[in-house]
Amino acid sequence: MQKHPEEILKNLTIEEKIGMIHGAQLFSTAPVPRLNIPPLVMSDGPMGVRQEFAPDSWQPTGGSDDYVTYLPCNSALAATWNRELAFTLGSVLGEEARGRGKDVILAPGINIKRSPLCGRNFEYFSEDPYLTKELAAPLIRGIQQWDVAACVKHFAANNQETERLWVDVEIEEEALRDIYLPAFRYAIEKGGAYTIMGAYNKVYGEHCCQSSFLLKKILRDEWGYDGVAISDWGGVHDTKLAAESQLDIEMSVTNDFDDYFLAEPLKEKIKSGEISEEVIDEKVLRILKLMVKLHMLGGERKSGSYNTPGHRQKALDVARQSVVLLKNEGQPLPLKKEKLKKILVIGENADRIHSNGGGSAEIKALYEITPLMGLKTHLGGNVQVDYAKGYCREEQPETGSTNWQETSLEHGGGSVGTAGAESIGLARKRQQLREEAVRLAGEYETVIYVGGLDHGQDCEGNDRPDMKLPYGQDQLLRELLGANPETIVVLMGGSPVEMGSWISKAKSLVWCWYAGMEGGSALAEVLLGETNPSGKLPETFYKTHKDCSAHALGEFPGGKTVAYKEGKYVGYRYNDKFQVEPEFCFGHGLSYTSFACRDMAWDKEKNQIRCFLKNTGNRYGGETLQLYRREENGELFQELAGFEKIFLEPGEEQEVKFQLESSPGKPCKYCIGTSSRKIYLGLAQ
Ligand code: BGC
Repeated sequence: MQKHPEEILKNLTIEEKIGMIHGAQLFSTAPVPRLNIPPLVMSDGPMGVRQEFAPDSWQPTGGSDDYVTYLPCNSALAATWNRELAFTLGSVLGEEARGRGKDVILAPGINIKRSPLCGRNFEYFSEDPYLTKELAAPLIRGIQQWDVAACVKHFAANNQETERLWVDVEIEEEALRDIYLPAFRYAIEKGGAYTIMGAYNKVYGEHCCQSSFLLKKILRDEWGYDGVAISDWGGVHDTKLAAESQLDIEMSVTNDFDDYFLAEPLKEKIKSGEISEEVIDEKVLRILKLMVKLHMLGGERKSGSYNTPGHRQKALDVARQSVVLLKNEGQPLPLKKEKLKKILVIGENADRIHSNGGGSAEIKALYEITPLMGLKTHLGGNVQVDYAKGYCREEQPETGSTNWQETSLEHGGGSVGTAGAESIGLARKRQQLREEAVRLAGEYETVIYVGGLDHGQDCEGNDRPDMKLPYGQDQLLRELLGANPETIVVLMGGSPVEMGSWISKAKSLVWCWYAGMEGGSALAEVLLGETNPSGKLPETFYKTHKDCSAHALGEFPGGKTVAYKEGKYVGYRYNDKFQVEPEFCFGHGLSYTSFACRDMAWDKEKNQIRCFLKNTGNRYGGETLQLYRREENGELFQELAGFEKIFLEPGEEQEVKFQLESSPGKPCKYCIGTSSRKIYLGLAQ
């Protein structure tokens, strides 16, 4: 039997209550042993449960017991457009978090991708609020079925890393509410997220972790949220503001735990009468209610487990559907496995491990199948797989004993990365690698290039200066495609890259993300036709970052303030309205089979749109039908209002139903589209 939170609260001393509302370790609050109240134990992050750290320093404990299942990043999940897989991924994350003894998993990150340059985009889903919320909600439900709390982050408008601790977001309230807040609201109302993390930045002059506008007016008063609001690590700057903004727990990166704003300084202010004790009671009550929900105060609690074969299989299931086939002119893909004798794989990303990078989302993966290993394990010993690096990263500076997070509150918290001047030695090495790869490419019939970004660019605390491929890859790709026009191009990353100087020469292009421990297997299956690709872009792939509204109309990264002058015209909303052609548009993704759609009908009584989808090709495959709403004379050209992912055998047809959220009220038109958002059918009200 669990005790009643109100009863427990009455028995707590002020010191005990204070201990429960701030970090007493880097990832935990203080317990109250006298009353059997355990600490609240938290852990990052979105791609799996992070390694263990010492309680009061950022030194990893370095044991062999905190290797975990490495899951595809949220951008990869979003590319599946599959709500069931979101639940699946969440259930693995929740079960592993519980298996590792955690109470709160600091995930998912649901900020909107405002600019392709934001270093944490790989942790986020999409530029579109509808797609983000539809996937975040099942993911949260998946986590929380394991008696672990999800912590949706970072509330709100945390869309850049540059000056992330201080930058003040200037945005019209309507755009904030229509674009940047819906995923949080839905995560709470439909996903039932037990906890939420405030962002580092400011909105309307207030730091988000102590914002009366965000935390009090919107979160508590308007949305009626009674879950626990946790600060980002070091996101609090004032005792009174934080205490009265209805933030519940202050966490930070330093080990002077008693000096945290919601520790001794708060106790002093309560003792002097400046802040009422009721303010902490509300917080403690919410924390105790959370503990009841998680069965931490008695009753039977799920035990979880980690590194199970089932979890690895699920990581593979998600990875498979996340691969996006962007181009396949003349169908060079899939490769005919039975005809392959010898292939050449080029590119450092074919052989690079990504799990251990990216910032707080880093993972100590049990293993990670690279693309090279994926290809070798799928092809077996009868095919000769040769490898040429083609390019290389800068030499990494010697890592000292400090963890980056320890000093993460310095210098505004983040900056724009620079391409870095190439030393003569590095330039020479890159030239050698390039020349060798180009020479070899001409000698092989089948060449697969695997490049793109890594966590040198896709990284917390860092924004990219532009969308250019790093390490001289543009030149390498141009020369490779010149030497062997059949070269298959595979790129990975959490955000798009410029492709203009070589894309017209490439016949095929595959995009894979940081797709977890089985990412390399999934990629190999797609290249060899064992899996038919069904991923769709969850964001616009601009030709250059200048074609993105944050840069064209607004500011990025701004200075002390950043003006979101583009308002609601975020992502494809801008490109559609202002007819700015992207390289590949939101929702784009090809298949090895073909589909056709017919007989769109609007059942107004049920508020449902229906149509029939048929697989008209000769392979089993999945298609995501996307429903767009166009308001007549509306400001926006069109926005996503529904999607359904359907798998069909060749010749099979199925009725597809889209349940509309609410009646549009205004005259509007609905369209169903798929790859390249080619509109199949339209219907007026
Ligand atoms: C990040 C959060 C993370 C926290 C704890 C911060 O730097 O912004 O996303 O959960 O650290 O590691």
